[in-house]
Amino acid sequence: MQADAIARSYRRWAPVYDVTFGRITEAGRRRAAQQVNAAGGAVLEVGVGTGLALGRYAPHVTVTGIDLSPEMLAQAQARADRDGLRHVAGLHLMDARSLGFADESFDHVTAMHIMSVVPEPRRVMAEMARVCRRGGSVLIANHFARTTGGWAAIERLAAPLADALGWHSDFDRAEVLSEPRLALVEETALPPFGLMTYLRFRRVD
Ligand SMILES: C[S@@+](CC[C@H](N)C(=O)[O-])C[C@H]1O[C@@H](n2cnc3c(N)ncnc32)[C@H](O)[C@@H]1O
Repeated sequence: MQADAIARSYRRWAPVYDVTFGRITEAGRRRAAQQVNAAGGAVLEVGVGTGLALGRYAPHVTVTGIDLSPEMLAQAQARADRDGLRHVAGLHLMDARSLGFADESFDHVTAMHIMSVVPEPRRVMAEMARVCRRGGSVLIANHFARTTGGWAAIERLAAPLADALGWHSDFDRAEVLSEPRLALVEETALPPFGLMTYLRFRRVD
């Protein structure tokens, strides 16, 4: 998807996201926040969306969020204000392909259900590795394409609808595995029905 198609799509999603896609993808946000909370420090959430994860980070964690969609980001800001989330240091309109942060600025970088949306996933992985400190963690939750079975057929059928859906239903897992600075240390299937996958990487170089 191109950036303008993403912006159009998430302008439509913003008012209903929390009670639709947001509702069935809670497990990845919960798991990422638990791991961040256990370690503490500063986290960058890439593609923060409506900010569904913001309240899951503990008060001792400093949270920065970025997103390409002004409408999604406005929802996140409204949530932070409404819920008094003082550990949210900033929410910025920014493209994940070109993060406006210095190298090694964060202890953790999280990206939930965004990798199959962004136009250049390998470039986004490189940017996330760059801003994560050495020894820090990059945490990803996403749906990845299956190669066999009924779901694989459905994913292939839905693939041409990416601009309308707001994500690529047939997104290849290999797209997030080729960044040399990030070593995969955990892979876990998540609900619903194991359709989502949680990946934990450590920045090794
Ligand atoms: C499916 S939503 C996920 C939102 C949130 N992470 C969650 O788990 O609820 C995908 C989000 O990625 C954002 N996004 C897509 N491409 C982006 C990019 N290049 N840079 C920053 N955000 C982007 C969209 O605007 C949208 O808010």
